[in-house]
Amino acid sequence: MIRCNDVYKSFSGKTVLSGIGFDIGDGEIFGLLGPSGAGKTTLIKILTGQLEFDSGEVSVFDKDVSALSGEDRKNIGIMMDQFGVYERLSCIDNLKIFADIYGVSHDRIKSTLEQVGLKEAGNKPASTLSKGMRARLCLARVFMHAPKLIFLDEPTSGLDPQTMRQIHKIILEKKKEGCTIFLTTHNMEEAHKLCDRVALLNEGVIVENEAPDKICRKYNHQKTIKLHLSSGEDLIIPHESKSAEWIGRLLAAGSIETIHSSEPTLETVFLELTGRKLEEDEACITF
Ligand SMILES: Nc1ncnc2c1ncn2[C@@H]1O[C@H](COP(=O)(O)OP(=O)(O)OP(=O)(O)O)[C@@H](O)[C@H]1O
Ligand SMILES: [Mg+2]
Repeated sequence: MIRCNDVYKSFSGKTVLSGIGFDIGDGEIFGLLGPSGAGKTTLIKILTGQLEFDSGEVSVFDKDVSALSGEDRKNIGIMMDQFGVYERLSCIDNLKIFADIYGVSHDRIKSTLEQVGLKEAGNKPASTLSKGMRARLCLARVFMHAPKLIFLDEPTSGLDPQTMRQIHKIILEKKKEGCTIFLTTHNMEEAHKLCDRVALLNEGVIVENEAPDKICRKYNHQKTIKLHLSSGEDLIIPHESKSAEWIGRLLAAGSIETIHSSEPTLETVFLELTGRKLEEDEACITF
């Protein structure tokens, strides 16, 4: 669906993206993760043909991004920020404008509002919407023309956990419908939950590009098992065969309340890859 090869971009001599390369398959949710200023929005602008780049290759729908036709563009939906809403117009009238721009029937408005959970708010002026409702109206705008490829630049930024979960559900429904989704976020937990694959972007360089679970397993240096016993005691033991008998005995005796392996979170991996110190290793019981 998207192929990006050795892309460089600089602004006034300052390199912002450096040798970016990845492929995104049909129906995948691909997450681009990185701190503020890493180059996420710049990359979305390049992939959607809004910004020229210095060198490299970008193809979308198997075509050079500069050669996309009007029809191809109708298959792309972009949510870059939560602006561009007509404040005085109702949700329905906002969507009518976008339907007309994309040559889509107004009949789609009702089902699109329903899809983002704004069915009851159709006649509300945009200016009266809460932050979460506004975010969902922006998503509705992206979905109006039923694009196959969707770019979402920090769609849940600044939203409360409940609205965030609603938006995650909407994104996952779009994946079920067969859409390919390119998502940027600062939120590693969100990325882990939603994305088939994530690329970690740091200062314009992709430092890892894999399935979230695979990344966490790859950077599991500690290889320990954490036990919380019913006595209230916490134990950390090596993740190796000689621990098995001991864990077995504790399990048989009903002494274990919880048991976890020690893979790091994406957040911890990111800290490691971007050169910041890992948290101090926890004390580990050895046999
Ligand atoms: N039009 C521009 N002119 C000059 N510099 C720019 C321009 N657009 C972006 N930059 C610079 O490129 C770098 C990357 O910016 P970008 O907006 O892509 O980061 P980001 O990862 O999206 O950050 P955030 O998470 O804050 O949205 C920043 O240093 C920014 O100042
Ligand atoms: Mg950005």
